[in-house]
Amino acid sequence: MSHYPAILFVCLGNICRSPSAHAVFRHKAKAAGINVTTDCAGTQGFHKNAKPDQRAVSAGTARGYDFSGLHARKVVADDFEKFDLILPMDHTNLADLIDVCPPEHQHKIQLFLSFSDCDEEAVPDPYYGGAKGFEYVLDLIELASDGLLEHIKAAKQ
Ligand code: 4NP
Repeated sequence: MSHYPAILFVCLGNICRSPSAHAVFRHKAKAAGINVTTDCAGTQGFHKNAKPDQRAVSAGTARGYDFSGLHARKVVADDFEKFDLILPMDHTNLADLIDVCPPEHQHKIQLFLSFSDCDEEAVPDPYYGGAKGFEYVLDLIELASDGLLEHIKAAKQ
């Protein structure tokens, strides 16, 4: 890849997991001096324009991540053109993206946790659970973000 990839993180509502992934990854990329474009979106638009969930913000802020400027939006057709990597949080998000993505861009879509070597394949939806779920989401996102950064660095060499 001759340029740093533009990366889109995707979950269902775009208020818990994908904004957390966005906040964590942009922090780690900046710290590593990697100038990537990042964004996040939901497969559903029912929280349109909402700020990230307060529970996600509390858990992430306590670990030093910044959620400013993030507002929920739904994935749009243009995203499949614009982004080089489209990273859904779970298998449902993956299937929903595959359903609407043009064939020529399908190769851009892969589970975010495919960049980690942990046992989980998906970041579980924390919305209806407690604070522990949000901590676990961050644990998984931090692992996958580190793996994704290594992947990007290796591709640039
Ligand atoms: P997210 O979590 O997909 O990680 O943003 C959810 C947010 C909202 C809902 C479900 C999951 N909801 O049903 O409203």
